[in-house]
Amino acid sequence: MMKGRLITFEGIDGSGKSTLAKRVVRLLRKDYDIFFTKEPTTTWTGDVVRQSIDSDTDSLVELFLFIADHAENVALIKKELSQGKIIISDRYSDSQYAYQGVLLADRFEDPIKWIKEIHDGWNIKPDLTFLLLADPSVSLARCDRQKAKFEEIEFLEKVQKNYLKLADEEPERFIKIDAEKELAEMEKEVMDRITSYLERL
Ligand code: TYD
Repeated sequence: MMKGRLITFEGIDGSGKSTLAKRVVRLLRKDYDIFFTKEPTTTWTGDVVRQSIDSDTDSLVELFLFIADHAENVALIKKELSQGKIIISDRYSDSQYAYQGVLLADRFEDPIKWIKEIHDGWNIKPDLTFLLLADPSVSLARCDRQKAKFEEIEFLEKVQKNYLKLADEEPERFIKIDAEKELAEMEKEVMDRITSYLERL
């Protein structure tokens, strides 16, 4: 049996990541045993996370909720990996590093380093991570958040900067995708990368 693999999709809100991940999953299912998951998860810990996003929750509290939900995702993934499945996760620990890294920037000297340390010893590192890159003002206009406030654009710019920093630190894991391209084009690019990666194994 083939060893399971973990492939994640990351990017700022409205980058088209969820749509792309779903389409890729549908195509991969023709040839591979796929387990699709996302963060926030569809379990009760994910509900709690969504509740915290919708209320004015302290950023540190929110971080621990996101991490609890991530631990839930890791537990789900572990089970499926042991069965040799290919796991696709729409968001994963890099979302905690990139987003909470911005929200906790005024509380810790090196928030990303600190958040990464909390994951040490139990997190499963992805084999491949697709990072969708888009202009925050374009991607915000694409989401339902039509208001596209200046602060929101500024926030997503910082999140994307964190993602790029993470990608620089691990160039062998990250594959950057220009999310301003047509969906079909992105889909082809991602499918080519995944199939050539899986065929090399
Ligand atoms: P999102 O992927 O948009 O979820 P859904 O598709 O279910 O709406 O995630 C919700 C928001 O939470 C989004 O703005 C990104 C943010 N987020 C974090 O800040 N940290 C995290 O660890 C995760 C997983 C998401």
